[in-house]
Amino acid sequence: MCGIIGYIGKKQAMPILMDGLRKESYRGYDSSGIVVFDAQNNATCLKAVGKLENLENKIQGQELKGEIGIGHVRWATHGEVTETNAHPHTGCQENIFVVHNGIIENYREIREKLIEKGHKFVSETDTEVVAHLVEHFFDGNLEDAVRKALKLVKGAYALAVVAKEDPNKIVVAKLSSPLIIGIGKDEYLVASDQNAIAPYAKKIITLEDNEVVTITPDDLCIIKEREPEDLEIETGKTEKGKYPHFMLKEIMEQADSIEMPLKGRVRFDQGLAKLGGLDQVSDKLKDIERINIVACGTAYLAGLTAEYMLEEYAGIPCEVDFGSEFRYRKPILNKKTVVLAISQSGETADTLAGIKEAKEKGVMTLGIVNAVGSTIARETDAGIYNHAGPEIGVASTKAFTSQLTVLALLALFLGRQRQMSLITGQNIARELLNIPALIRELLKSEAKIKELAEKYKNYKNFFFIGRKYNFPIACEGALKLKEISYIHAEGYSGGEMKHGPIALIDESFPTIALCPSDSVYEKMVSNIEEIKARKGPVIAIATEGNEKIKELVDDVIYIPKTLEMLTPILSVIPLQLFAYYTGVLNKCDVDKPRNLAKSVTVE
Ligand code: F6R
Repeated sequence: MCGIIGYIGKKQAMPILMDGLRKESYRGYDSSGIVVFDAQNNATCLKAVGKLENLENKIQGQELKGEIGIGHVRWATHGEVTETNAHPHTGCQENIFVVHNGIIENYREIREKLIEKGHKFVSETDTEVVAHLVEHFFDGNLEDAVRKALKLVKGAYALAVVAKEDPNKIVVAKLSSPLIIGIGKDEYLVASDQNAIAPYAKKIITLEDNEVVTITPDDLCIIKEREPEDLEIETGKTEKGKYPHFMLKEIMEQADSIEMPLKGRVRFDQGLAKLGGLDQVSDKLKDIERINIVACGTAYLAGLTAEYMLEEYAGIPCEVDFGSEFRYRKPILNKKTVVLAISQSGETADTLAGIKEAKEKGVMTLGIVNAVGSTIARETDAGIYNHAGPEIGVASTKAFTSQLTVLALLALFLGRQRQMSLITGQNIARELLNIPALIRELLKSEAKIKELAEKYKNYKNFFFIGRKYNFPIACEGALKLKEISYIHAEGYSGGEMKHGPIALIDESFPTIALCPSDSVYEKMVSNIEEIKARKGPVIAIATEGNEKIKELVDDVIYIPKTLEMLTPILSVIPLQLFAYYTGVLNKCDVDKPRNLAKSVTVE
């Protein structure tokens, strides 16, 4: 989703801005732009739709010299993907330039008032009102004008603003959307994302909500005095290496990305999980009586899987909500409740809103987050990092399996604080430690899954079904297929099919059925029979050694045997590969599916 970058210092701004935009581009974007001020305060603003290369091409041949500038990658929310709607936006006099991440909710109202005062708008965006509003209040002091403008604005924003007539400064402000200031040697950077400024800054200041800060080449007038923190970026390679796509690389490295969160955290002898990030709340966790999980998309489905784990093994009632729904349904929370956010990026606005809701109610909050130092990691009382390494492909794969792994560790941790026996704890610990080896084995079926994708790639619809632990995995398989290949897919509980969806089944509507040899295997077989009786093609995901299933279904992909609770970590992998190859064979941009953003920072 939108990404902001800014530079002020003694170097040429343009290459640093472009480098930052490139690093923020994984967030998902559809247009981009920069403005650079030269020594005489002339502004050159360039924008382009599509890939960043289009902006680079425009820059070539332009004299874009200057030591101050701001830039933006836009993911369209208000207004189509056009050059006019791309940021930076400016007012009527082209004095003020603004880049923005977030949504100005009352923009129509402000726009109408400004039009009455004679302002002329050129774009369809919510952001343009900020440029005009700042222009309206501007009397030579940019910070004052920004402060006055923000008093009228409702919604969420991270902003960087520059003005020709108050030169040599960038004014930044934040409410709900992330923004950091990087501190280099005689230079400052502004960014939505720590990775974007890593080569230039070793220290950062994370802006807090409602802060407005003026940055000049030699000063950072931070309102509340506070110490800069060390810049923490995730370690791990961000290149594709031998793989054609990040998505495939990230699927294939899951044995390693699961080993990382297990490292040092599993105590087999004691049948325990050692979770350092929970040390400070460990005693309080002994008394909790309910867990409310908030998350979005794939992370939500990890949460749904955790509901089964936590109830079965820790005996704690658990509810799972989409971040976007949680606070609007007025959840009943009390001092014995924990609100647990699951988020790869740690920046998802809807999930963050759930955490804020819980904090307002005085409820303990925990986070399971991959991006170190992200907003959710900072806002929660305690938490567990995934340590899965950077995930660049927009569709979540290795972050999901690492979330399941961390959630299994949490179930073990909380279970052993309660009734779980040493033997059960050891059993989970042993099986967890064995999972990376099983994944290495399972990944050898890549070629077989590619063949199946070839066979099924032209179908227009798919069902994914599963029960108990594998019901959320069916939903995840469907989500992966639709986002990567744009094929319609639905995830259902196997038992629910006969209550409606089965009406769609015929020979043109295949089903992928998750039926490992577990406590609901026989039930799944009945559900598959119901589909076969209606001539629906079925691909089964079954446990190695189950030869019988071949008599019932059209195709089988085998997964190794493990504990029922851990099966999802394995069963989702063939579904990820199936989605990947179906997308590739259908010539889709699998690393950057259309309309999607990696970091969803607006509500
Ligand atoms: C789907 C996917 C999304 C994210 C969701 C939450 O493949 O990646 O559904 O899971 O946007 O993102 P995070 O985990 O960053 O909060």
